[in-house]
Amino acid sequence: MMIVEATAPGKAILFGEHSVVYRGPAIVLAIDKRARVLTRERDDDRLFFDAMDLGFSGYFEGDAYQPVTGEAWRGKRLEAFKECARKTLGHIGVEKGLDMTVRSELPIAAGLGSSAALCVATVASVGALFEADLPLEDISTLAYEGEKVVHGTPSGVDNNISTYGGILRYEKDIGFERFELEYEIPFIIGNTRRKRSTKRLVDRVRRLRDREPELVEGIIDSIVSISESGLEALKESDLPRLGDLMNVNHGLLSALGVSISKLDMMVHASRGAGAYGAKLTGAGGGGCMMAFASEPKLEDVYRAIHRCRGDPHLVKVSYEGVKTRRLE
Ligand code: PMV
Repeated sequence: MMIVEATAPGKAILFGEHSVVYRGPAIVLAIDKRARVLTRERDDDRLFFDAMDLGFSGYFEGDAYQPVTGEAWRGKRLEAFKECARKTLGHIGVEKGLDMTVRSELPIAAGLGSSAALCVATVASVGALFEADLPLEDISTLAYEGEKVVHGTPSGVDNNISTYGGILRYEKDIGFERFELEYEIPFIIGNTRRKRSTKRLVDRVRRLRDREPELVEGIIDSIVSISESGLEALKESDLPRLGDLMNVNHGLLSALGVSISKLDMMVHASRGAGAYGAKLTGAGGGGCMMAFASEPKLEDVYRAIHRCRGDPHLVKVSYEGVKTRRLE
């Protein structure tokens, strides 16, 4: 029986987290860490999920979930897989049961876009299994339905970057512009291993803005201008400037109250080890930081993050968006 594998990349926000909620761009990189979904048809109409990386397997019969391993209900993420699979089947007009195996190199709730990457891979694998030849735009839109289950009404950055790969400039009410660079940027992501909720952190910034509107508006303006300059520096491969902008951006995010001491330690240790720049990435409050260094310094930065009890990963920008292949 035919099996289809789909993989999709995670992401890291280089500039513009939090400010993008109000105005200006976010600059987002697809990373070479991927989520993977294997799908095959079943003889019955169950949707079976094996997500042992997340600690569960089980199936939906209608809307009722029957656990096989793990807890009875694994909340929104499982609901998101189901939503993506069902919406895709509906979109291509197929009524079948599926066996889906879900694996990921991306930590969950760490700001690296794991849920979007899994949603994108789910949609793509179901589409490819029934030879539907889904356009990328449809894959991204269907994956957004799953993202809504997990995150409410997210900006749509994550499903887009996972679908298309590369570098995106995203701005609310304007949309996406995709870039490719002619040079490679290796960087290091350090995971604090502390899960956090994006929604709660966005709310925290909003409350601070309500209390201190002028102050917070000034910080947002500065982050907006850093994001614009950061994209220029990236295109011009001006790495020292890129590093400076990351450092200032981290300071401003700290000022907004979304850093934690472990992130600060990892950021400062990276700079001390010779990184051009380092900042938290994503919503903050835990999750990940990223550091950017010249090739000879990467090893030192990696070790510095490790010494702070962070979990370092050497990553590259990935220009490969969602990909499918048949495994007969
Ligand atoms: O969920 P994360 O960690 O990728 O962060 C999202 C970025 C924010 O600007 C904080 C929120 C948003 O919706 O843009």
